[in-house]
Amino acid sequence: MQIIPSILVQSAEAFITQTNAVQNSVKLVHIDIADGKCVPNTTWAEPNTVQQNLTIDCELHLMVVDPLSVIQMWGGVSSVKRVLFPIEYDGDIIDVIDTIHHHGWQAGLVINLETSTLMIEPFIDKLDSVMFMGIIPGKQGQPFVPEVLEKITEFKARHPKIFVALDGGVNEKTLPEIVATGIDAVCCGSVIFHNERTPNENIIRLQNLI
Ligand code: DX5
Ligand code: ZN
Repeated sequence: MQIIPSILVQSAEAFITQTNAVQNSVKLVHIDIADGKCVPNTTWAEPNTVQQNLTIDCELHLMVVDPLSVIQMWGGVSSVKRVLFPIEYDGDIIDVIDTIHHHGWQAGLVINLETSTLMIEPFIDKLDSVMFMGIIPGKQGQPFVPEVLEKITEFKARHPKIFVALDGGVNEKTLPEIVATGIDAVCCGSVIFHNERTPNENIIRLQNLI
């Protein structure tokens, strides 16, 4: 099971500090991109700075109302490997998946807590991954909503080959029951970046728990 550090920042400086702190211990980071419309807050995410500074791979978690324009902006960033966008998107989901694939990236749908997993079924054959939110998207450090665990277990049993991740609410207390679902990856923000230990120490602690 993979640990993916979640980078939700408000400046280039914070982006560089956080990614520098983890790029020796993981192969991929998760960049949160929020537009203040899809979710109440905004984040810093600037393609050129990422292209110039990130030495490992990344996935983009789009929390935006217009994923196609954001995808276009990131076209020249060679570290991008996967792009995830909300299934609640109010537009042509297939078109977005196809656009992601045209860039040579993996495509994933993100599913909110209140949305039925059945919504994913019509798109399953086109998807490389599915990501379940364990919190309400927008901010780091929110409490984990355990009802998502059953949804993940059931989905993973139905689709054992698809890469499944959980985003949000992961900590040393919630991790054991998350691991038990058979999930492939967890995206973690505050448990890695916002406590008294270094990000590397936190990653090792999580790996030991897994
Ligand atoms: C929330 C983001 C998450 C967040 C996770 O909108 O999509 O990726 O950074 O942070 P924690 O691990 O603190 O819940
Ligand atoms: Zn995220």
